[in-house]
Formats: sequence, structure tokens, C-alpha cells
Amino acid sequence: MKEADRIWMNGELVDWADAQVHVLSHGLHYGSSVFEGIRAYRTDEGPAVFRLEDHLARLERSAAIYQMPLPYGRAELRDAVHEVIAANGLSDGCYIRPIAWRGYGVMGLYPLDAPVDVAIAAWEWGAYLGEESLRSGIRAKVSSWRRIGSSTIPATAKAGGQYLNSILAKIEVSKGGYEEALLLNEAGYVSDGSGENLFLVRAGALVTPPPQASILEGITRATVIELAHEEGIPVVEREVARAELYAADEVFITGTAAEVCPVREVDDHPIAAPGPITRRLQERFFAAIVGRDRRSAGWLDTVVMPAPAPAGGSTG
Ligand SMILES: Cc1ncc(COP(=O)(O)O)c(C=O)c1O
Repeated sequence: MKEADRIWMNGELVDWADAQVHVLSHGLHYGSSVFEGIRAYRTDEGPAVFRLEDHLARLERSAAIYQMPLPYGRAELRDAVHEVIAANGLSDGCYIRPIAWRGYGVMGLYPLDAPVDVAIAAWEWGAYLGEESLRSGIRAKVSSWRRIGSSTIPATAKAGGQYLNSILAKIEVSKGGYEEALLLNEAGYVSDGSGENLFLVRAGALVTPPPQASILEGITRATVIELAHEEGIPVVEREVARAELYAADEVFITGTAAEVCPVREVDDHPIAAPGPITRRLQERFFAAIVGRDRRSAGWLDTVVMPAPAPAGGSTG
């Protein structure tokens, strides 16, 4: 990863190398953490964070599910995100990772007596699945691992431990030469990618699995649904059978890391990518995140960067 200079940790900026935790932290042993993945993009007004409020709201919801009281309020966390971007001079945009975890002091599975620590890091991170994949699509494969279900681990929380499920799926398909894993839920219907939501296009309409299909309710997914409505593209949230992916006119995945990424193969079945609807939604999305769409204003939170140091040394 591309290191930045400073990380916000429990209320203060520390050097990147000093952002350490104790080896007996609860979160490290049991996955008792909640986190967000957020992006900021370069705009004409400076770096702007995409849907920051919505991400922080989801962090709060994830923490609430695990009864993890966040020691900082929404406004403090928003300020901290701005501070991290400014302190690291990330004018060209970045990936932002706020994380809250059960800290050091208590072992065993009852977590409520352990402290809650919070950190926010930001660094430059390009296209998650590669620039080329945004243009020509990825090869995806349905993993033999089923996605965690609402009766095991709530998929609607973005908690550290649940990503072991995604990791198993990602390892399996990567070793098979595919770029991304798709997971079926316990009922055998399509759920999510390892770190993305999924859409297919059938007869001019978008189809995407509903929250009860054990998806993470993605903010990029919500964005694409809103943009589709604006474009007059019908959106249907319903269960999706695996073989529907093979017969789809278009398939794409969405996520903060992966953005809006076409899928050109599922289980070795070729799919035209990017199809016209994927391309239209990609265009709207990529315009929105850099401040060039009529919806941008409501979604972007611009960071005020420190004034550059005057060039040329002493003015005498
Ligand atoms: C399992 C899963 N589904 C979907 C998403 C997409 O969510 P978002 O668009 O909010 O990044 C993610 C990424 O956070 C994820 O991990």
C-alpha cells in the first residue's frame, strides 16, 4: 500500500508508523471491529469525500448492532476525516478507512467491558480491480462458499470478522484465475461480491438482490439506484438465481473500492461488457464523484486544504 504520513487515532494525529495496537486487543482475536471504506476524489474545489455522512451513519449502525458505543459523534468523525486528508495533503483523492474496535484490557467473548478505540487512515488507492477492468470488465466466479446469513452474522453490519467469509471466497476464485468472487446466500440466491453489490440488466431494467438476500446495503448501490431512477431505468430488487447471471444482458458490480465495474464473464459464460446501461450509469457515477453531475452537490463534502507554503524562502 502507498503509505501516507499521519493517522488519526483516538482523537489525535500520530505518525503512520506509530499507529499501533496491543497484540491482545479484543478486535484482533475475535474480529470485533466495525469499519468503513470511503473515497475522496479530486474536484475543481479541492478533494471531496463522497457521501461521507452516509458512510458515518452506516458505521454507527454497524457499531450499534455489536453494542459498541462509539466514543466520537458524527460531527467529530467528519472533522477527523477532513483532518486526515488535509494533514496528508491528499489533494488528488484517496481511500479512507475509519475503524472502531474493541481494544485492550478484556479477553473472552463477552466484549462489553473492553474499551472501544477508533482510528481513521487515508492513503492513495487507485482502481481496486485495476483501471482496465473499469473499461472492459472483470471475470467473476461464483464461490463454493456461501455468504454469511442473517441467522449467523448480520450482513447489514460492516464488521471485521464477517470478512473472513469474503476472504475465503476471494482466495478460492483468485487461485482459479478469476478477478472477483460472487457469493450465493444460504438459500442459494445471488447475494454479493466479496466486497461489492451486484446488478444485472434484463430487458432494459436493473435487477439487484434485496437487503434480505444477505447483502451489505452498499452506498454505491444506493447511488446507482438513484441515478438509474433519474435516467428512467426501472430498478427491481428481487432474488436472483445464479443462472440468471449467465443469461443477463449486462452484469456489473458496485462498491466504494471497485466503483462501478462491468463484469464480462460469470462462471466462464461471456457477457457483453460494458453494455449500454452499465456505461450510462458509469458515466453518471464518474461525473458525480468529481463534482460534474447535477447530483454532485448533495453527495460531496469538500475538504479545505492547508494553504501551500510560500515558495522561495525568506522574503527578507
Ligand atoms: C460485502 C460487500 N458488499 C457490498 C459492498 C459495497 O458497499 P459500498 O458501496 O458502500 O462500498 C461492500 C463494500 O463495502 C462489501 O464489503
